[in-house]
Amino acid sequence: MAEVAVLGYGTVGSGVVEVIENNRDVISKRCEGLHVKYILDLRDFPGDPYEDRVVHDFDSIINDPEVKIVCETMGGATFAYNYTKACLEAGKSVCTSNKELVEKYGAELSRIAAGHSCSYLFEASVGGGIPLIRTINEALTAEKIERIYGILNGTTNYILYRMETAGLDFKAALCEAQEFGYAEKDPTADIEGHDPCRKIAILASLVTGKKVDYTKILMEGIKDLSIKDIEYAKAAGMCIKLIAMSEFKNGGCYCMVSPRLIAASNPLSIVKDVFNAVLIHSDMLDDSMYYGRGAGKLATASAVVGDAVECANNIGKTVFCGWSEEEAQLADIDDLEQSYFVRVKDEAAGAFKAAVKTKDCVLEGIAEGEKGYFTESMTEGGFKKAIADLDGVIGYIRM
Ligand code: HSE
Repeated sequence: MAEVAVLGYGTVGSGVVEVIENNRDVISKRCEGLHVKYILDLRDFPGDPYEDRVVHDFDSIINDPEVKIVCETMGGATFAYNYTKACLEAGKSVCTSNKELVEKYGAELSRIAAGHSCSYLFEASVGGGIPLIRTINEALTAEKIERIYGILNGTTNYILYRMETAGLDFKAALCEAQEFGYAEKDPTADIEGHDPCRKIAILASLVTGKKVDYTKILMEGIKDLSIKDIEYAKAAGMCIKLIAMSEFKNGGCYCMVSPRLIAASNPLSIVKDVFNAVLIHSDMLDDSMYYGRGAGKLATASAVVGDAVECANNIGKTVFCGWSEEEAQLADIDDLEQSYFVRVKDEAAGAFKAAVKTKDCVLEGIAEGEKGYFTESMTEGGFKKAIADLDGVIGYIRM
């Protein structure tokens, strides 16, 4: 039986304990078994079935040689970093759902793990319960991954879905998401795109083998989308999704997070509610899609425990998952080609069409005094330059 400590008894941490306890039988068929010996938290949990395992000092964990696996479900990048580093240096494997820590310190922590014959695994940090990291590292290991494109944030997918299906404006949809406990009280990380941006940075780091710094990724959230934008999308037979993408070509890595118009024929268009889905295009397999619960207590905890089982089967060894500390040079996003849907005031239509090559299809009658145009494929830089001096561009959405 491998002794486990859980750091942080919040939503995911309590889920980890629940998965280990409820699925004890199945887990013990796949490894020597897992047993939660300690739960570290500042709080007490009177009446909780595992209250006797709650400790308040990290020393009891780090100094206990029986503890071989630590599940870090605290979040944040300060205490979580110090505790993770100390555990790895003591030869204890760490499994985490903490995307902030993985994005920032994943390279260093996986190097430390490798130097101390233990593992740092983080399946749950991207896509919650969807097995994406193991898929990229193992199942697709013979593939050259050319593109990752998907919905990596459940909260914003829910908001956009409710704007689309219930006609709610952004604020009302956000309030509803908060009422259901999907969105945090402070929803900034989700609605401004930091959360999916960190996740795509982690996936791009895995593919490139170098650290992709999320702060250098072009990131646009959904808070400026209006109900009119949704109506235009519907009129075009499309929907709007917050897409995190990374394209690997000509030796470069392009990354971006932004709302995009998605055609009804694209499988991502049917991803509703708080679900996540990712399309991976690789050279031999072509497209493959991964769909499921990208957040939530048990889905996320299941991925953490899956990692813990892998660690239990590799005590005294390293299951390497990570990338080098060298920073990946992101390709200039201005060179990325795509087309755009653009809302233009009627009086500016002539100047717009003179500056930008558009397709024949024009959307009219959605909002007074304006029309919606679809551009031909052009570079991000070329598009921005073309519209820079035009007064009548109301807004645009990438396709
Ligand atoms: N806030 C995230 C989401 C949780 O909505 O997807 C999982 O990272």
